[in-house]
Order: sequence, then structure tokens, then C-alpha cells
Amino acid sequence: MKKLPIVGAALTLAFLMSLAIAAEKVVGDPKAGEKVFAANCAECHNANSKEAKEGPGLKGVKDGTLPSGDPATQDEILKLLDEGREEMPPFADLSEEQKNNVSAYVLTL
Ligand code: HEC
Repeated sequence: MKKLPIVGAALTLAFLMSLAIAAEKVVGDPKAGEKVFAANCAECHNANSKEAKEGPGLKGVKDGTLPSGDPATQDEILKLLDEGREEMPPFADLSEEQKNNVSAYVLTL
């Protein structure tokens, strides 16, 4: 009987860890996203440097922060693609799959 709290704590921990992993899971194929990026984003964004074009260079996103200082999560990028911001237009004509792929790609930069 004395072991029960420990088992409970271990189960709770395992459950919380599975939640954390689920929250970080990135959907989409970065390789396919690279093509979407070349066709739709590269005119305004460098992928391999921080140097700005029309928009900020995106190298370094994989370290966890977007150029604005917002957390680099897939949700954050998908929201940006849906809503646009300042000089960046929304990308309503990209499919769900293309948006997942291109945001997965940006997270690797
Ligand atoms: C017409 C130019 C233009 C195009 C095309 C464009 N962007 Fe942007 N993007 C911008 C500008 C400008 C900003 C900076 C917006 C701001 O925060 O003021 C930006 C910001 C961003 C950021 C950083 C957001 C942050 O919080 O720092 C990401 C990521 C991004 N764009 C991804 C993309 C992706 C992916 C595509 C292609 C699907 C794309 N952009 C296409 C102009 C563009």
C-alpha cells in the first residue's frame, strides 16, 4: 500500500510528458515545404540568413524564437499564414497541407 503514491506520481509524470510531446509535435513534411517556401515566401524571406528582404530573414527559427521574439511554434506560424501581419499577406490560397508543410520547413531553419 505504501508504494501507491509513488506509482501515482510516476503515472502522472508519464501522462504530463506525453502531453508535452504531443504539444510539440510538428505536422507536415519539411521537404515538401521547402518547395512551397521557394514559390511563395522566398521573394520576401531569406531561408539561410538573418538578413532582411521584404520580411525578416528566417535563419535561426529552429533555436526557438521567431524574428519578432514570439515563440517559434507551428501554431504561431500557421496563424501568421492565415491572418498575415503588417506587410506580410495572408496565404488563404495555400491548402491546409501546404501550410503544414511550409511551417514545418520554417521550423527547421
Ligand atoms: C510580400 C512579402 C512577404 C511574403 C511573400 C511572405 N512574408 Fe513572411 N513576413 C513578411 C514581413 C514584412 C514580415 C514581418 C511582419 C511583422 O512582424 O511586422 C514577415 C514575417 C514572417 C515571419 C516571422 C514572424 C515573427 O513573428 O517574427 C515568418 C515565420 C514568416 N513571415 C513566414 C512566411 C512564410 C512561411 C511565407 C510563405 C508562405 C511568407 N512569410 C511570405 C513579408 C512576407
